[in-house]
Amino acid sequence: SQISRVTIVGSGNWGSVAAKLIASNTLKLASFHDEVRMWVFEETLPTGQKLTEVINQTNENVKYLPGIKLGKNVVADPDLDNAVRDANMLVFVTPHQFMEGICKRLVGKLKEDVVAISLIKGMEVKMDGPHMISTLISEQLRVNCCVLMGANIANEIAVEKFSEATVGYRENREVAKKWVRLFSTLYFVVTPVQDVEGVELCGTLKNVVALAAGFVDGLEMGNNTKAAIMRIGLREMRAFSKLLFSSVKDSTFFESCGVADLITTCLGGRNRRVADAFAKNGGKRSFDELEAEMLQGQKLQGVSTAREVYEVLRHRGWLELFPLFATVHEISAGRLPPSAIVEYSEHKPNCS
Ligand code: NAD
Ligand code: 13P
Repeated sequence: SQISRVTIVGSGNWGSVAAKLIASNTLKLASFHDEVRMWVFEETLPTGQKLTEVINQTNENVKYLPGIKLGKNVVADPDLDNAVRDANMLVFVTPHQFMEGICKRLVGKLKEDVVAISLIKGMEVKMDGPHMISTLISEQLRVNCCVLMGANIANEIAVEKFSEATVGYRENREVAKKWVRLFSTLYFVVTPVQDVEGVELCGTLKNVVALAAGFVDGLEMGNNTKAAIMRIGLREMRAFSKLLFSSVKDSTFFESCGVADLITTCLGGRNRRVADAFAKNGGKRSFDELEAEMLQGQKLQGVSTAREVYEVLRHRGWLELFPLFATVHEISAGRLPPSAIVEYSEHKPNCS
């Protein structure tokens, strides 16, 4: 069979680690071309240099993953069309809010036989309802799109600490196995699961629970409260996923993409960290301000996902079924104080 060329669309914190993982494998495996192309959203660094030039000179993404060599076979490319032109395998890993625009730019630009995978945790809500990012990709670009989600704090995988991940696929198990081969290393163990919606919703929704966990941390409520929030959050994740897609499997929530990602994100993720600061400031400084100050260009996914989930709940009349999800949005939008995270039953419209 043909030798596949891989392009990564995105080069943030996780995108750069994905490049490192993949580049170590394309060198070893004969079924992939050695070179891995990485599309970089170009920016000028404080030194006046272009980010792509510095990545190609130093083999490091000095802004989003400093100190880590990506592999000599990673080539940074600021030109999106050029980066995807020859690819047979496309890895999408940008913050989710940029994907609609990127998909529009890519229509008609891809090879016929290309397959895709999304590492993006988030969703888009349109007039006709919620759209998963993998659905956006597969519908707009007419490609098979798997997802890879898991307990994967990028900085830990960058230094090769053991972790697991889940590839979600729809029907084609052979394609899923090819993605598993491309990503798997001794320290990154990947399992395929036939439940693309379940896997993607786990990765998406846990970011909302992570904000709730950050609020209780910021309010110094202790371990029991945080565990309670995580338990309630996991239940809401499962209930919401199954209401949206009846095909979602219970077993998916026990994979790395489910409970494991929920735990790691509520312990050590960026959403948790910024929500902690938000609560410590009594909600007086906005998430946008804290994100810019604390993450230096990296992006939170939880705040916009909480809003998107809220829209779905409101449109479908489900707000009372999901008090944790709804309250996270009310708090991050400044309509309730952070302490409401454990008082939300009092705020329910029909609570006696
Ligand atoms: P990031 O948070 O580091 O985001 C910064 C990236 O966004 C940079 O590459 C920047 O160039 C790019 N960007 C900024 N403005 C842009 C624009 N207008 N158009 C396109 N790109 C633009 O990104 P990340 O950590 O790689 O996260 C990508 C996805 O991976 C997210 O959905 C995230 O939830 C998920 N994820 C992240 C981690 C992690 O630990 N970082 C782990 C697992 C999954
Ligand atoms: P944060 O975006 O909150 O850092 O979460 C990273 C993640 O998805 C870990 O799997």
